[in-house]
Amino acid sequence: MKIYKTAGYEELSRKAANIIVAQITLKPASVLGLATGSTPVGIYAELVRRYEQSDLDFSELTTFNLDEYLGLSKDDPQSYYYFMQQHLFSKVNMPAERIHIPSGKADPADLECQNYEQAIKVVGGIDLQLLGIGNNGHIGFNEPDEFFEKTTHCVDLDEKTIQANARFFSSVDEVPRRAITMGIGSIMQAKKILLVASGKSKQEILEKSLYGPITPAVPASALQLHPDVTVVYCE
Ligand code: F6R
Repeated sequence: MKIYKTAGYEELSRKAANIIVAQITLKPASVLGLATGSTPVGIYAELVRRYEQSDLDFSELTTFNLDEYLGLSKDDPQSYYYFMQQHLFSKVNMPAERIHIPSGKADPADLECQNYEQAIKVVGGIDLQLLGIGNNGHIGFNEPDEFFEKTTHCVDLDEKTIQANARFFSSVDEVPRRAITMGIGSIMQAKKILLVASGKSKQEILEKSLYGPITPAVPASALQLHPDVTVVYCE
């Protein structure tokens, strides 16, 4: 595991973007796993800047996002689909047909999960998976549990996650209670993983995840078993 501490959020964003740019440069037809939330916002802004100012090319990429709230449509400003359009996809030359985000409106949602997992397999798996980490140690929406969920599945969000994500909604009652997420197994099959964490509030859970016991009670602790993880963090 490579662990880089940066001086602040801007450096974190640049360093993580460098790793993604290196991946795209070395393999233009890469499959990227992407995350939402506040931490990757600066990374996406940096990727957009490099696209506008250099020859960074998204045209051969395929992407799979980690998760989506159940019940929200693509055009809901709180959906992760909307987030990705706003911060990245609408600003670069990413082909729409190779963007994958679970549908929050899928019915039945279980079938959407199976199809999503299958779609990742069909393209040969994820080359580089970007991850944030929740205050409770979640990655994607894999909440603390008694076992590691293997594949893409529906999940009831943890009370901590609902409270943490309420900042994006006008009230806590509006935060969806369920989501679709790639499983720990789906994430662990990515060839490379890039985990980013920003701020003092993440330091304790980051430390627990990287150095504590490997347990589904701290879902990110599974990453200790992955052969190619890079962590970029700042306090
Ligand atoms: C988002 C996701 C989540 C976030 C995590 C951290 O797609 O999968 O696991 O990465 O909740 O969110 P922020 O960056 O907002 O602290």
